[in-house]
Amino acid sequence: MKGIIFTAFLDMSEELYGYKLVDELIEESNLPSKGVYTAIGTYDFSEMETLLMNLSRKVNAPPNSLLETFGKYLFSVLSKTYPYFFARITTSFDLLISVDSHIHVEVRKLYPDAELPHFEVTRVAENILWMDYHSDRNMNALAYGLIQQCICHYGEKATISQQVLEDKQNATRFEIVIEP
Ligand code: HEM
Repeated sequence: MKGIIFTAFLDMSEELYGYKLVDELIEESNLPSKGVYTAIGTYDFSEMETLLMNLSRKVNAPPNSLLETFGKYLFSVLSKTYPYFFARITTSFDLLISVDSHIHVEVRKLYPDAELPHFEVTRVAENILWMDYHSDRNMNALAYGLIQQCICHYGEKATISQQVLEDKQNATRFEIVIEP
């Protein structure tokens, strides 16, 4: 997993819970990297699982709720770090459609070792989009937070529902309905 995800996670944790708690979190997690991350480095995904589980225990919040909050935070970090992916995009659907067909493709070119999810995207109607999320890392709650913040970023309102796709392995469908 790329370092930018770890640095964003620790920055969010510090903003929400303070420097001291993050210090303890890193100490108690016994990480191979010792919690020293650079944005372009690559680290074992298990370090993220450890940090998430330990933060969950320390602040007494469910891991998925922390991951969803992190998704919202991460979207803002990504939009500031990679502004060129947002140029000329004016609606949430245009951005969401470009994640799998363009953004993550470019991320893979920059970082061949990136571990990215796959989205199958269907434009069901003018105001309805399905995003079928597939990933061995099962970070549905992260995707959910990213999608919510994307809607917010474009000043839109939407209802988002999730459904596990029984016939596909590790897949979740997000149905996003833009409200008028
Ligand atoms: C709403 C839009 C987006 C969604 C739903 C999304 C979804 C995700 C998810 C769920 C992951 C975690 C890995 C996994 O699940 O397997 C991920 C990783 C990542 N995404 Fe996106 N993404 C979005 C936008 C972006 C944007 C705008 C960028 C900017 C470059 C980006 C760059 C990355 C990077 C660098 C990773 C980490 C790869 C790694 O750790 O090796 N994503 N994305």
